[in-house]
Parts: sequence; C-alpha cells; structure tokens
Amino acid sequence: MPRHHTPPTLDVLLPTAPGGPARLDPRDDEAELVALFADTTIHPQRRVHVRANMVSTLDGAATGPDRRSGSINDEADHRVFSALRVLADVVLIGAGTARTERYEPLALPSPLQATRRDHGRAAELELALVTASGAVPEVLLAAQRPPLVLTVAACPSLDQLRDRLGPHRVLVAGEEQVDLATALDLLADHGLVHVLSEGGPHLLSDLLAADLLDELCLTWTPLVVGGPAPRTTRTDDWFAPVRHARPRHLLHADGTLLGRWALDRLTP
Ligand SMILES: NC(=O)c1ccc[n+]([C@@H]2O[C@H](COP(=O)([O-])OP(=O)(O)OC[C@H]3O[C@@H](n4cnc5c(N)ncnc54)[C@H](OP(=O)(O)O)[C@@H]3O)[C@@H](O)[C@H]2O)c1
Repeated sequence: MPRHHTPPTLDVLLPTAPGGPARLDPRDDEAELVALFADTTIHPQRRVHVRANMVSTLDGAATGPDRRSGSINDEADHRVFSALRVLADVVLIGAGTARTERYEPLALPSPLQATRRDHGRAAELELALVTASGAVPEVLLAAQRPPLVLTVAACPSLDQLRDRLGPHRVLVAGEEQVDLATALDLLADHGLVHVLSEGGPHLLSDLLAADLLDELCLTWTPLVVGGPAPRTTRTDDWFAPVRHARPRHLLHADGTLLGRWALDRLTP
C-alpha cells in the first residue's frame, strides 16, 4: 500500500462536479474536508445524530493479520478519521475496540481544534465506552479526563468504576446488555449530540440492529487479506429488514475509496 510522508490529496468522485473531480489538498486545519462532512442535522424527532466510521479491506476484513485496523488503514483514511473527530461531541467505542486498538485519551492537534471551534463544538472531545464487563483499559481509567463509561446494572465492577471515575462518568443503560437507545439519551443529557462511533463490529451491529445509525462512513483500502478477520458488522442475526443506504460522497486517493452513506432509518 502506498505510504505517504504527507497526507494525500483526496479526489471527490461523488458528488460529480463539472470539469472533473474536485480535489481536497491536505491542510493543517482540514477546513475544506471537515466542511464536506459538517451537515449532520439532527432529525426533529431525535436527540442525537449518530455517524459510524469504519475501514475495510477489499475482501471485507475489519482487521489485518495483527487483528487490528491499524494494519489495513492508510493516510487517506486517517485524514477522514481525523476530520470526523473534529465534528463529534463524543467518540463512542465498544470496549473490545478500546482494548484491542489500545485507545488512549483523545487529543486533536491545535489546527483541528480551531476548526472544531469554527463549527461550534465544545473544546473537549469526549470518549464514551460501551461495556457490560466493566473491563476498561487502565490507560483510560488513569487519564486526566477519563472516558464516560456506558454500562449495565449487572456490571461486576460497577462500584469500582464509580469510585474511580466519579458517579457522573459511569452511566447505567440496561440490566445485562447496554441498551444503546438509552445510552444515547444519557449522552444527550450531557449535551453530547453529535456521536461518532469508531466501532468495533459488535457495536456497529448493535447500533444498526436498534435502528440508531444515521450515517456510515466506510473506507475500502486496496488490500486483500483473507484470514479469519471479522467483517465491519459482527452478529449472528440478519438485520430484519436489511438496511438500505444512500451515497452522499465518494472520495479517492491512491486506490483507497472513502464512502459516506446516509442510512434509511426504519422509524421516522
Ligand atoms: N475496521 C474498523 O474500522 C475497526 C474499528 C474498530 C475496531 N476494529 C477491530 O474490531 C475488533 C474488535 O471487535 P469487537 O466486535 O469485539 O469490537 P467492539 O464492538 O468494539 O467491542 C465489543 C465489546 O464492546 C462491548 N459492547 C459492545 N456493544 C455492547 C452492548 N450493546 N452492550 C454491552 N456491551 C457492548 C462489550 O464489552 P465487554 O466485553 O467489556 O462487556 C463487547 O465485548 C478488533 O480487532 C479491532 O481492531 C476494527
């Protein structure tokens, strides 16, 4: 896969433009790229806008042989990944992703922080982690600003988490499994209404199954890995009905395709 010292220019393949694709050159503040993704209107009957961002190989793998997504993403993906964080109030992840991808407290470089301000987002980008087990990585628990933990009444380490993080950062949304609709309501109560899910496959499946996803950003990198990798969704159950999506954008750089799709929600 081509590796760039500087992030690549992105061609805007969709929507088509007269005279050929528009080009988005990398900029420290990424103002143009962020603007492309900024229209995240919250439906009048909902409290949040939920966008997911995932990366896949051409053969549908959500990880490479190292069982992480770092081996299948690239600089083009990283540009969009960062731009989406600029627009989020909160990054939502499953605890599996926090553990496997070794998440650290979130920090945006200062030029992106400025773009964030221009879009009216609060200075702090929150991290919220979904877990039933309560197994939250120590690096996150020990952070100056720890994550919000969305968990369940049956979580075996509920009391320890509350002691460690303070009761206001541990949110109970269900008995045995996190009810994601309740969890999103609790985030909205905290003023966190632009939600960016960075996965992983279980969480994405749960969001889709509960009809809570507004938008899917999906990058395909030009790799074919085989192996027992999970897909970007990971569930034994077919979605019933299957979900439909409409393309919003398609970007391109060096064979990597970056799509943005609006999900047709089942409920208004
Ligand atoms: N390609 C990509 O874009 C991408 C993105 C992210 C991750 N990944 C990869 O995906 C793999 C991890 O997959 P995964 O499916 O295990 O990730 P995941 O969805 O992040 O994590 C699953 C865990 O999250 C918690 N969880 C998710 N939904 C829940 C719910 N509704 N209620 C309660 N807990 C819930 C549970 O944590 P507890 O076990 O703590 O209860 C569950 O075991 C890793 O290899 C990672 O590298 C790929």
